[in-house]
Amino acid sequence: MRDAAPTTIYLKDYTPFGYLVDSVHLTFDLAPNATRVTSRIAFRPNPDALDRQFFLHGEQLKLIRATVDGVEITPDVTETGLTAVVPDAAFVWEAEVEIDPGNNTALEGLYISNGMYCTQCEAEGFRKITFYPDRPDVMSIFTVRINGALPVLLSNGNPTGKGDGWAEWNDPWPKPAYLFALVAGDLITHPGQFTTKSGREVELNLWVRPGDEGKCAFGMEALKKSMKWDEDVYGREYDLDVFNIVAVDDFNMGAMENKGLNIFNSSAVLASPETSTDMNFERIEAIIAHEYFHNWTGNRITCRDWFQLCLKEGLTVYRDAQFTSDMRSAPVKRIHDAIDLRARQFAEDNGPLSHPVRPESFQEINNFYTATVYEKGAEVIGMLKRLVGDEAYAQALELYFDRHDGQACTIEDWIKVFEDTTDRDLTQFKRWYSQSGTPRVSVTEDWTDGIYTLTLKQRTDPTPGQSDKLPQVIPVAVGLIGANGDETMPTTILEFTQEIQSFAFEYTVEGWRLQGCEGPERVSGANPPKPTASILRDFSAPVILEHDQSSAERAFLLAHDSDPFNRWQAGRSLAEDTLIKMILTDAAPETDYLDGILAVLRDSDLDPSYRALMLGLPSQSELAAMMHEQGVTPDPVAIWTAVETLRQVTAQHVQDLLPRLHSETSIEAAFSPDAEQAGQRALGGAALALTSRLDGGAKAAEDYQRADNMTLQLSALSCLLRAGKGEQELNAFYDRWQDDRLVMDKWFGLQVAMSAPAETADIVSHLTGHPDFNWKNPNRFRAVLGALATNHAGFHRADGAGYSLLADWLIKLDPVNPQTTARMCSAFQTWKRYDADRQALIRNQLTRIAETPDLSRDTTEMVTRILN
Ligand code: PHE
Ligand code: ZN
Repeated sequence: MRDAAPTTIYLKDYTPFGYLVDSVHLTFDLAPNATRVTSRIAFRPNPDALDRQFFLHGEQLKLIRATVDGVEITPDVTETGLTAVVPDAAFVWEAEVEIDPGNNTALEGLYISNGMYCTQCEAEGFRKITFYPDRPDVMSIFTVRINGALPVLLSNGNPTGKGDGWAEWNDPWPKPAYLFALVAGDLITHPGQFTTKSGREVELNLWVRPGDEGKCAFGMEALKKSMKWDEDVYGREYDLDVFNIVAVDDFNMGAMENKGLNIFNSSAVLASPETSTDMNFERIEAIIAHEYFHNWTGNRITCRDWFQLCLKEGLTVYRDAQFTSDMRSAPVKRIHDAIDLRARQFAEDNGPLSHPVRPESFQEINNFYTATVYEKGAEVIGMLKRLVGDEAYAQALELYFDRHDGQACTIEDWIKVFEDTTDRDLTQFKRWYSQSGTPRVSVTEDWTDGIYTLTLKQRTDPTPGQSDKLPQVIPVAVGLIGANGDETMPTTILEFTQEIQSFAFEYTVEGWRLQGCEGPERVSGANPPKPTASILRDFSAPVILEHDQSSAERAFLLAHDSDPFNRWQAGRSLAEDTLIKMILTDAAPETDYLDGILAVLRDSDLDPSYRALMLGLPSQSELAAMMHEQGVTPDPVAIWTAVETLRQVTAQHVQDLLPRLHSETSIEAAFSPDAEQAGQRALGGAALALTSRLDGGAKAAEDYQRADNMTLQLSALSCLLRAGKGEQELNAFYDRWQDDRLVMDKWFGLQVAMSAPAETADIVSHLTGHPDFNWKNPNRFRAVLGALATNHAGFHRADGAGYSLLADWLIKLDPVNPQTTARMCSAFQTWKRYDADRQALIRNQLTRIAETPDLSRDTTEMVTRILN
């Protein structure tokens, strides 16, 4: 076994470490297969700890020597660390270890990517660099010396000296080891500069491999905008003389917030109009902001233990969403986030991997960097803000930064600052952190004597380890709309705290209002017409809303709702209803949907990006989830067929508008990745997709030829592939971009995504044999196998070819890169939705993975949870 036997770690067992660390000095003598790491660590007993056992984590380290206060000792070394006898007073620990970055394919600890040394320590990778109390509540000041014959040698903090073949760094801010970083390589900087609000000059660098210089400008601007925004909105200033970002090609995740030295997957930072889509630009801007914002929410204030991961991730995702809303369109961002949450987090929360935003146990923490911790964690903060109001939120955050700067904190600390600021009792609210599963809110209406009443009922189905659920505090934003389409009650937050609760609205001179609120009196004797309710505006809580509305009501909201989110939602609900009817009864698409879409597309007052979103459909996987919820076994082929049909019929229905909408892709001004142009291209691209259903791809072939940006090039190519054409363009694309790793990921992924279900598995098999299929690179692996898992009908091919193919590759990748393997196992998490035959096929594959000899702890935990 490569990994020690799996043990489960529990939140309730937390105890502080027996020692405090006053300082850490590290020296790296870099060599590809025998890097020496010398550590000098000043320890002293922790007065707050009971247990004085001296245990240092350490994995895959060759201990050369160890001393305590200069005296050589022989520690007791196991696979997971060492214990030693140490003085009951302050002492200095020194150790020298040897590690092998050249053979580190797991990309955790110190590794080499394309000749560049690079580290990844979160969550528990520092223990692969040297012996250390590798836990986030042990914070210290790090001084680092790097010896290596490479031009650029970087670590955290400020540079304190450099010469030929060496560099020294000092990070004055105490930090846990997971924020340590080192980079060494032949790199080029795209420099920048920022002056903070108090006048501190900060040197900025975006370090890339030679050849990538042309893809840095956008990221650098995004960084500056983020720095400014965090000052303006949260009052947070940067706190070092330099801020370095490094792009690396081999990386398991998106990016990492190491103090003063953020390391990015090159796909999350490098961008140019020729090589990146508008979606890439938006994602890059958001990730740069996210990592930068961690400097305060994560680094200055960190987590006491890994159960508190959402303390930094939920908050930082929330902050980066606010940033994107400010930089671009707030409603569009909100809609994107809701789509994403429903697709990924709801699937997780309602299946075998369901876990609370703050989990209570884990075997491998790397398996808990999930949509629940991140995205639901951010939603929980959004709800808190809605409940306490913007002003109290700002005060609470101020108090949080003030009170906890320099500390390793818990969710209790976080909630306490809100309680102290607002005098509210948030005990019930905390259930959002401890209860897993997505609450379902069902709505019934009553209309009696001119009083309109909404009765809300909440329930959360049992999830693994939690059979009984208690009611949660759900902020439900509601507006009312009169018969003529005018809003007659502006958005009002209902605090929904009980299992069943009714909210009555009465008619006043100023329109409708929640009964019991302050304001003008009810107009007695008035006989207002029944209003239409717009419920869960702005997606005010991460719940499933069960509201039986007629198509006519939905169409009415689609035409009139003043809340952009719910207006979009009305269209989405119409699409879902009609699709499910089509799947179950072979019905034709409903005219309410088709006419509604037509009206929206005609309305040129609406943002192009918003109109493009209106043309979207629920994913096939979501449709499968909805059918499963309704007690019907989803048939992936039937779902695929219905979606294809609806697309075809929609194209015919809006045919006359298509040329004009398509012309949005012809922008005269110079290319800009801003929200405005991106919206135009999104609408034009959506129009092209519909056009291709009618002209067999003729327009797409023209667009492919004229495309001078990647958004258009890729959308044209995908239309061609979808139409069963584009072979020539695909080859031309390859010839043009074969040396660009990030563009080649798109080339691989697109062929899988656009394939017809019967062919997906064969295309994947074919592509995995391509000489450029470098499967040890996580981006390339995900481009192909990740695309297989998200091509719903292709993955779920009835003969199980998709399942066995994915399993083959997961088994092959596991010994090389357990983290990426384990994450991709979630492709199987929805298996219990499907028919008995498919379930049996998937179970066989999961069992085959589980029984693989020497399977990693990461993957073992995932397949075990999914199978149970
Ligand atoms: N902390 C990183 C982020 O959210 C994610 C990450 C986790 C990266 C673990 C690498 C390893 O920004
Ligand atoms: Zn993060």
